[in-house]
Amino acid sequence: MSILVTGGAGFIGSHTCVELINSGYEPIIIDNLCNSKSESIKRIEEITGKRIKFYECDIRDRAGLDRVFAENCIEAVIHFAGLKCVPESISEPLKYYDNNIGGTVTLCEAMKAAGCKKIVFSSSATVYGSENPSPLREDMPEGKTTNPYGTTKLYIEKVLKDLYASDNSWSVCLLRYFNPIGAHKSGKIGEDPKGIPNNLVPYVSQVAVGKLDHLNVCGNDYPTPDGTGVRDYIHVVDLALGHIKAVEKVLKESGCSTYNLGTGKGYSVLDVVKAFEKASGREVKYVIAPRRPGDIATCYSDPSKAKAELGWEAVRGIEEMCEDSWRWQSQNPNGY
Ligand code: NAD
Ligand code: UFG
Repeated sequence: MSILVTGGAGFIGSHTCVELINSGYEPIIIDNLCNSKSESIKRIEEITGKRIKFYECDIRDRAGLDRVFAENCIEAVIHFAGLKCVPESISEPLKYYDNNIGGTVTLCEAMKAAGCKKIVFSSSATVYGSENPSPLREDMPEGKTTNPYGTTKLYIEKVLKDLYASDNSWSVCLLRYFNPIGAHKSGKIGEDPKGIPNNLVPYVSQVAVGKLDHLNVCGNDYPTPDGTGVRDYIHVVDLALGHIKAVEKVLKESGCSTYNLGTGKGYSVLDVVKAFEKASGREVKYVIAPRRPGDIATCYSDPSKAKAELGWEAVRGIEEMCEDSWRWQSQNPNGY
C-alpha cells in the first residue's frame, strides 16, 4: 500500500520511511531538498534493501503534485514537509507562511482532487504556548505562539480541522511532537542540520565530536530542579513508530484527532549534557549563557491519549537516545 511522505528526505521523514517499509507499506517521497540531501534516501534503501520512489518536487507545485497522484495509487499522506528554524521564521516570516501554510493548502487541494482524504500531520508542542502547565494534554487550549514557525503549526492545525468540519469523509491526525532526537541504530541516517545547529542535541553532538568548542546553556535561572530548561526528548524511532499507528488509524476511519507524541518525562539541559557525555565517552564543555528569547522553562507531555487510542508509547530512554545520536554523529561527522 502506497503512502505519500512529504519531506521524506528529512530527519523525521527518513526514519518514518524505514518504519513504513518495516511495516509492509510502500513510501513514496516528495521533497524539494531545501533542508536535506537525496543521500538520505539512498541510506534508507541501504537499511531496508528496498527501492524508494522519489519525486524532487515542491509541495507548492500543484501540477507536480497532480502528477504524483496520477502516477501512483496513494492511500494516505504523511505530511512532514515544512521549514522549522525558529529564528529564521522571525526574520523571514513570509517564507514560513508561504512554505508551511501555503504548501499545506496546495497539498490538500491536490489530495482532494485525487480523492485521497487521509492525512497525518507533523504538528508541534509549540502550539500549547507558554501558559499551559506541563504535563501538556491535548484537551488544553492552544496557547499564544511566540514565533511565526509556531504560528504556522497552529494555523495548519486549524486549516485541517476546518477541512474535516467541511467534509466529514476526511481523516486527519494531528501529531504534536515534543523534542525528537536520536537516530536509527545503523548510524546511517540521522539529523543533519545546515550550519550551526539551533537545537540542543545536534549542538551537543558537534561539541562532543570536536566541531564546536562549547555549548551555551541558555539560562540557569529557570524555576526547574537545576535552573536549566526542561524538555520531553523523544527517540526519533519511537516517533516514527507513532506515525505507523496514526496511518493505521486514518486508513481505518474518518475523523479528526490530535495526539501528543512524547515520553511524558522531562530532562534538563544539564541532564542531557551528562547523558551525552556518558554515551559518547567525550567531555561536553559548556558555559552558562543568557536565556534564549521565547524559551519556556518546562515543556513535557502527557502521552496517555496516544497510548489509550493508538496503542503507542515511547519505549526508548534518554541513554539510548544519546547513544544513537552519538553513533550517527561520530560515523558521519560532516552529515550526509
Ligand atoms: P527536516 O527539515 O529534516 O525535514 C523537512 C523536510 O521537508 C526537508 O527534507 C525539506 O527539504 C522538506 N521541505 C521543506 N519545505 C518543502 C516544500 N515546500 N516542498 C517539499 N519539501 C519541503 O525537519 P524534521 O525535523 O524532519 O521535521 C519534519 C516536520 O516535523 C516539520 O514539519 C517540522 O516542523 C515538524 N516538527 C519537527 C520538530 C523537531 O524538533 N525536529 C518538532 C516538532 C515538529
Ligand atoms: N538550549 C541550550 N543551548 C542551545 C540550544 C538549546 O541551552 O544551544 C536549550 C534551550 O534553551 C531549551 C532546550 O535546550 O531549554 C531545548 O532546546 P531546543 O532548541 O533543542 O528545542 P526547543 O524545545 O526550543 O524547540 C523544539 C523545536 C521546535 C518546536 C519545539 C516544541 O526546535 O521546532 O521543540 O516542539 F517547536
